[in-house]
Amino acid sequence: MSQKFEAWQACLFTMGTTGASIAAMTNTPPKHGLALKQGLARNTANYGDKDFALYLRKTFAKSMGYSQAMLDKPVVGIVDTGSDYNNCHRTVPELIEAVKRGVLAAGGLPLAFPTVSLCEPSLFPTSMHFRNLAALDTEAMLTAQPMDSAVLIGGCDKSVPAQLMAAASSDIPAVQLVTGPMLATPFQGERLSACTDCRRYWAQYRAGTVSEERINLIEGRLATTAGTCGVMGTASTMACLAEALGMIPLGHGSIPAVHADRLRAAEEAGALAVRLIANPIKPSQIMTAHAIENALRVLLALGGSTNALIHLTAIAGRVGVKIDLHKLNELSDSTPVLVDLKPTGEGYMEDFHAAGGMPALLWELRDLLHLDPIDVTGVSLGERLIKPDFVDRRYIRARSEPVSAVGGIVSLFGSLAPRGAILKRSAATESLFEKEARAVVFDGLEDLANRIDSSDLDVTADDILVLKNAGSLTPAGMPEAGYLPIPSRLARAGVKDMVRMSDCRMSGTAFGTIVLHITPEAAAGGPLALVESGDRIRLSVKDRSLDLLVPAAELDRRRALWTAPAKPKRGWDRLIHEQVLQADEGCDLAMLRKEG
Ligand code: FES
Repeated sequence: MSQKFEAWQACLFTMGTTGASIAAMTNTPPKHGLALKQGLARNTANYGDKDFALYLRKTFAKSMGYSQAMLDKPVVGIVDTGSDYNNCHRTVPELIEAVKRGVLAAGGLPLAFPTVSLCEPSLFPTSMHFRNLAALDTEAMLTAQPMDSAVLIGGCDKSVPAQLMAAASSDIPAVQLVTGPMLATPFQGERLSACTDCRRYWAQYRAGTVSEERINLIEGRLATTAGTCGVMGTASTMACLAEALGMIPLGHGSIPAVHADRLRAAEEAGALAVRLIANPIKPSQIMTAHAIENALRVLLALGGSTNALIHLTAIAGRVGVKIDLHKLNELSDSTPVLVDLKPTGEGYMEDFHAAGGMPALLWELRDLLHLDPIDVTGVSLGERLIKPDFVDRRYIRARSEPVSAVGGIVSLFGSLAPRGAILKRSAATESLFEKEARAVVFDGLEDLANRIDSSDLDVTADDILVLKNAGSLTPAGMPEAGYLPIPSRLARAGVKDMVRMSDCRMSGTAFGTIVLHITPEAAAGGPLALVESGDRIRLSVKDRSLDLLVPAAELDRRRALWTAPAKPKRGWDRLIHEQVLQADEGCDLAMLRKEG
């Protein structure tokens, strides 16, 4: 059998395959029994006759032209998230081909299958609303279909978190592969890439300093290659965290999407997935409490996306690990920001990769990390870390010269956020860190859109803009609307930043003094629901506090008048409303966490 297969494989690879040789392989007596509890023999359909179920499965598999020898191989499932709606996943078809090469060369049978594909700008009301759907879909297909290991191909913001959540829950040996970041585009003496530069130019357009003609020209220069956003936004942060967690081999997370190394990484992922069959290492053995704490450190050192905190919390919840926002503050106070990329610095992801990428960053942080976690290669972090020959210190700083001596994100607690809120201090204006001011409140996204640029809006640069009813329980689905626009009247007067706060999220590519994820959210009846324009709010980054300065009796009066939002009538919206957890629990569905 083995010799025949080798001969067949050689024929196929040299394009010398003939009808006769294929027929010979197809007619090889099939194995009907279940001696091999691997590959296609796994998870047979339940007809009450397992041998028949496997016979039937192989019959239909043969209709796709596979030989018996191939059908007897261990199976690597490849999660295909390519979609005409997903620009960030444009290269998925060629990545799948490269993964298949790696699987075949290592002796496995690669079988790709589609799952939900999430592209940040393509989805209403927001891709976050569907992260758990993608996680559920991926978990269901990983466990329902016959496969011995998997390669998960993701990239755009929510896809990698969804896939890691699914990997954790299915606990099938899996390798994460990302599409990789896009390249920045030279443009009139500067470089542009999605999407920090999108926001910078849009703010200038709103302020009247960039013309309509120029903003339209720039629209065609911001994202000019395949791949995910080219800054340390959510997609790039999650790729780095997947590497820190050990689900991506070291050095593979930041390879640009269009670089030939990206295809070689895909080929290696395929080969690695086959090795994981002979030497099974489950995601639960990789994404341990120590690995998750390492990933939190890395998030802080990257000055990474605030969204990644929600995603990492959800992934941790799938393996029964709780991320405590008080612990985040401890880690933040002892972790320097070492990476100097947009949106907080100047570089792009291609600079980070060329500067040394995650191997260089992890080396720099090594005394702060747990060194025992293993990765998909089965090797501990301590053994994987090697002193880099070269590090470009413009983008990955030495510990002695950090971008900031403390981490990029802090959590805040107080009467306005009893279960916490967060602020990305590395992307905020330090002069606004200690502030007590009047609230200007918007009751939801529609109210925000209707009034933010109104000429009679009572607002000054010294006020705090508050958006409520935009959390995960609302139909808005916790969008990236926390980056409230500066009212155009103030923007035109030169105001660049104000304190803004909400129960929703902010794009990883955004910047400003912005308090996010206020928990419990307004729609869950949190104190945020009771805030009214004119109330005083106190923010203290020094004290890690966020307080609503309204007497308790007045809050009681308002609470008596508050009503919970109506439940959606059906479908996914209904399920989300009934099951979704708050931000401090990763906004996962309650039924999908490890404890159920
Ligand atoms: Fe996909 Fe930014 S839009 S990563």
